[in-house]
Amino acid sequence: MSELNYRLAEASDQPTLEAWDALPHVAANIPDDAWDWAEGLRQRPHWREQWIAELEGRPICFMQVIDPAEEESGYWQPIGSGHRAIDIWIGPEDALGQGHGSAMMAWMLRRCFAASDVHTVLIDPLESNVRAHRFYQRLGFSPIGRRRLEGLDCLIHALDRTEAIRRKYASASA
Ligand SMILES: CC(C)(COP(=O)(O)OP(=O)(O)OC[C@H]1O[C@@H](n2cnc3c(N)ncnc32)[C@H](O)[C@@H]1OP(=O)(O)O)[C@@H](O)C(=O)NCCC(=O)NCCS
Repeated sequence: MSELNYRLAEASDQPTLEAWDALPHVAANIPDDAWDWAEGLRQRPHWREQWIAELEGRPICFMQVIDPAEEESGYWQPIGSGHRAIDIWIGPEDALGQGHGSAMMAWMLRRCFAASDVHTVLIDPLESNVRAHRFYQRLGFSPIGRRRLEGLDCLIHALDRTEAIRRKYASASA
């Protein structure tokens, strides 16, 4: 597989991300009213990182990681410290299903668990997104319960540090 490059998302990514929002596989699985690119890409709050993965110079994926205890809308509340929550999607249809998502999640999980206080990473796929459930479970996530978040039925998945060490996303000494 070609090597992926990761960089922080920038204001100039707005047209790309808006075009991806309109693609059927993104529109069906990512509620777009949660994403205000014009505002969001211009701010870098301490509790959030937004990343773009590129394949041979072409953006193919967006990833966001937040500290859900610090996130300002209270989306994940009530929640304690030591969590991270990830959102991920691939834009170009021809980049789906080739292992890029797995590679990017492994990269992001290593990044999350590199912080010694992080004990659990969360994901909130729609309950209807059964392909994504399979994808996350193959990476080591377990479903921990259904939850209605902002009017949408989600099946929350979690991966804790013990599983992260087993999967080599984290080292036992961290
Ligand atoms: C989920 C996603 C990030 C996985 O990345 P990927 O590079 O396609 O995945 P990989 O090639 O590493 O692994 C393949 C698995 O990804 C999942 N997948 C592939 N295409 C998918 C699609 N269109 N929608 C949802 N999941 C998909 C499946 O579980 C697939 O396994 P399967 O062949 O057994 O069904 C990517 O498919 C995607 O962006 N899907 C649409 C948006 C989405 O659902 N994002 C997750 C929201 S929580």
